Amino acid sequence: MWLLHLLAWLSISTAAVHAQCPIYTNYASSKHEPYTNTRWNLSYARPIPPCRTFAAPEVEHTISRLRKVIVDPDLFRLFENAWPSTLDTTIAWRGVSNRTAPGADEEELSFVITGDIEAMWLRDSANQLQAYVSLLRANDSRESLASVFRGAINLQARYLLGDPFCNAFQAPEESGTIRKSSMNSDVIQPSFDYMQVFSCQWELDSVASFLQLSVDYATATGDYAFFGKHNWTNAVAKVLHTAQSMMVDSYKEDGSWQHTPYTYCAPYGGTPINDCNGSPHRGNIGLIRSFHRPSDDACTYQYLIPSNMMFSHALNASSFIMSRIAPADSNLTSWMQTMSSGIRSGISKHAIFPSAKHGPIFAYEIDGYGSANIMDDPNIPSLLSAPFLAYVPKSDKIYQNTRRMILSRDNPYYAWGPVISGVGSPHTLPGRAWPMANVMAILTSEDDEEIVRNLRWLLQSTDGYGVLHESVHAHLEGVWSRQWFSWANGIFGQAILDLEKRKPHILKMGFQ
Ligand SMILES: *[C@@H]1O[C@H](CO)[C@@H](O)[C@H](O)[C@H]1NC(C)=O
Ligand SMILES: *[C@@H]1O[C@H](CO)[C@@H](O)[C@H](O)[C@H]1NC(C)=O
Ligand SMILES: *[C@@H]1O[C@H](CO)[C@@H](O)[C@H](O)[C@H]1NC(C)=O
Ligand SMILES: *[C@@H]1O[C@H](CO)[C@@H](O)[C@H](O)[C@H]1NC(C)=O
Ligand SMILES: *[C@@H]1O[C@H](CO)[C@@H](O)[C@H](O)[C@H]1NC(C)=O
Ligand SMILES: *[C@@H]1O[C@H](CO)[C@@H](O)[C@H](O)[C@H]1NC(C)=O
Repeated sequence: MWLLHLLAWLSISTAAVHAQCPIYTNYASSKHEPYTNTRWNLSYARPIPPCRTFAAPEVEHTISRLRKVIVDPDLFRLFENAWPSTLDTTIAWRGVSNRTAPGADEEELSFVITGDIEAMWLRDSANQLQAYVSLLRANDSRESLASVFRGAINLQARYLLGDPFCNAFQAPEESGTIRKSSMNSDVIQPSFDYMQVFSCQWELDSVASFLQLSVDYATATGDYAFFGKHNWTNAVAKVLHTAQSMMVDSYKEDGSWQHTPYTYCAPYGGTPINDCNGSPHRGNIGLIRSFHRPSDDACTYQYLIPSNMMFSHALNASSFIMSRIAPADSNLTSWMQTMSSGIRSGISKHAIFPSAKHGPIFAYEIDGYGSANIMDDPNIPSLLSAPFLAYVPKSDKIYQNTRRMILSRDNPYYAWGPVISGVGSPHTLPGRAWPMANVMAILTSEDDEEIVRNLRWLLQSTDGYGVLHESVHAHLEGVWSRQWFSWANGIFGQAILDLEKRKPHILKMGFQ
């Protein structure tokens, strides 16, 4: 489905920064000077300054500083290309809402695209911006990084209030961007606004991402007042009602089949069986159904455990924003906390399965009847990322068991070969590792040897482009998907900045 969308949409150009700037999809398809002229001879991939979509002096300052911190020239090049990718290439439009009530503060909006697709995914955009959270400070200026975050939160709130089951959206009308109907052969209920929505897959991690982005902004800036200014509270209420509606049992008390409020049938991307509902699920066990994974593939079983982990943490963490601004007569704060702990007990009770080799492990997906899908997928939230999502500490016993399984041939989607080894996905093809999961292995590891091994795989799997791809054939460096994928690149930068704090000696090593 993605590919079809992509072909249809490539013709629309990004709200151009500068008329003479090349379309980045084209620019990123070839290599550019200066080359590192070292073992991996990596290309330079950043657009020239006037063609970058957002300029943040603090980001440039950090890149200059890291030039002296990272000793290996190829590792530095990968960082310098990858980390700024979102700001360089994907802030497709920024402006203010024309819906704001008279007398209210102007409502900033930021339209952040994924990279090679001209649409804003709730998940990708939140994760893309997370790459810069360590530099985020309170700042009222429209030209600040803080403004980019506020604009993304406001626009996500608008999208969720309109179409809470959907995952990716078109530019807001204020941008003047030409929008097209996204109607296709998919049959989806409830109906949605085809001119606003880009794709409508119910992914629990999309709404979790909105909450996580909110927590990231509030924690870094201390600017809680912002959340009381526009539609944030209404959007959270919508998220709670929507999530609650997806806890229902597949059967009514009298035995008749009960539809979920959201249903999805599509010729591409996997058709949920049983009249577009998916397999039967036992309801009201604390967990929330997700029809799709963060890869946008259909779930086998809809209690997708990593997404429930992420949502549980994000609900609880953002309830502390709500508690400062919620109207006195609302139950929103306690609802967020109750739902959060309900998910946590649902996971403990239903999602831990025995494994003869590894001991008790978390399942990737379950149905509440006892069926489980034992695997992991590289897209975040994944089981591998559970400590990164702050759901469990790295040392958690069940997490450690699960992690050993995921990073071994006992995970049916583990890929291995001379170019790169790591977690693969049915979204591309088995036998291809996703660099994003190697980055997550670094972020969740205390073991120097494992971290270095993963850095090496990342360096040798860019095919000389000096950016992370979506997936790479474990045996053929030249076979990969997506030359412009900002999320994976941003989180790589995040991991390097994290290593600078946790394990600075690793950045002093040579990788030649
Ligand atoms: C690096 O790649 C460029 C472009 O392909 C090439 O011109 C240059 O000679 C290469 N340098 C080395 C040391 O291989
Ligand atoms: C948000 O709040 C404003 C009032 O400030 C209102 O006019 C608007 O319709 C609300 N909803 C959305 C989706 O923007
Ligand atoms: C706020 O952001 C702007 C734009 O980046 C910057 O010029 C200004 O110095 C920042 N203000 C503070 C107090 O950091
Ligand atoms: C907002 O701007 C768009 C595009 O210019 C316009 O079509 C729409 O009617 C405006 N809405 C309001 C409420 O003014
Ligand atoms: C909060 O109120 C809603 C109805 O608006 C209800 O469905 C929900 O169960 C309540 N939650 C709590 C924790 O009281
Ligand atoms: C929610 O956060 C509080 C404060 O950090 C913590 O004590 C509590 O255990 C968390 N609850 C859940 C369900 O994660």
